Amino acid sequence: MKISVIGAGNVGSLTAMRLVQEKLGEILLVDIVKGLARGKSLDLADASPILKYPYQIEGTEEIQKINDSDIIVVTAGLARKPGMTREELCCKNAAILKEICLNIKKLAPASIVVIVTNPLDLMTRFALETTGFKPTKVLGMGITLDAARFANIISQELNIPHTDIVPTVIGSHGEGMLPLPRLTNIKGISLEEFVSEAKVKELVQKTVTRGAEIIALLGSGSAYFAPSAAAAEIVRAIAKDEKRILGVCAWLNGEYGIKDICIGVPCRLGKSGVEQIIELGLNSQEKEALQKSAASLREQYKSIKL
Ligand code: NAI
Repeated sequence: MKISVIGAGNVGSLTAMRLVQEKLGEILLVDIVKGLARGKSLDLADASPILKYPYQIEGTEEIQKINDSDIIVVTAGLARKPGMTREELCCKNAAILKEICLNIKKLAPASIVVIVTNPLDLMTRFALETTGFKPTKVLGMGITLDAARFANIISQELNIPHTDIVPTVIGSHGEGMLPLPRLTNIKGISLEEFVSEAKVKELVQKTVTRGAEIIALLGSGSAYFAPSAAAAEIVRAIAKDEKRILGVCAWLNGEYGIKDICIGVPCRLGKSGVEQIIELGLNSQEKEALQKSAASLREQYKSIKL
């Protein structure tokens, strides 16, 4: 198994570290900045005698080395800077992804591609269209992280172990996410039944604003510990053909009444990528919110001009 991680910044290098430690295969870390991925790989490998994991990582600035990868994680791109609009960020990251995706198409046509670069849902669709791959082979890590945040916030606020919580979050990644309290359960009891309406609202609000809270505290850059854990969880599910159901950004073709767009929904993941899209029994309010989120993504996608 060959897994390439493109972008050796905060999220990419930590994702590579998690994959090396899980012994998922041969890991390649790529960054356009000369020496960066090589330096980080050497640093990671120097920890192997202490942590007792085998050195199976290579760093490079040569994108050609991704050839014949089985799985490719794309974390290359910019984070939004002060004064930069969402549209500007979208166009800049699309330009970065375009070159990367054309290389993936040429060098690793059999790979499964996991997009992490923001704006996640738009970049996943852009990668799908640019590679021309089958929709099952291109997916995005967004609500995987949002669901982990929802579960962690519930766990901390209600003093319940994570293992007893099954969170459900759908929709676009970021502020447009839709945490679903009705379909989030604690040992089979809906969160809505477990706590008051006011508490549910508070838990949802904390989840939606968690990313921004972290950005404000960090001062520069955005989250990377949990994002890399979520990216590694997706890679593991694919690499080990786990058939797990995880929330990922996937291409919809009529599911939930939505067509021709990538958005976060629960999917069964295995060696072929997105092997099944799970259709949750949404009530009319939840369905309407998801469709609104999809309509907004459809509009935003039109702003990508290269
Ligand atoms: P970072 O700035 O630390 O790293 C980005 C890296 O990409 C840099 O090292 C840069 O040199 C590299 N890069 C740029 N163009 C490249 C190219 N053409 N080929 C190879 N490498 C290239 O940023 P960080 O924190 O790692 O975030 C990366 C992306 O992931 C951002 O777009 C960020 O918004 C997004 N993100 C997404 C999350 C999600 O839940 N989907 C969560 C956290 C971050």
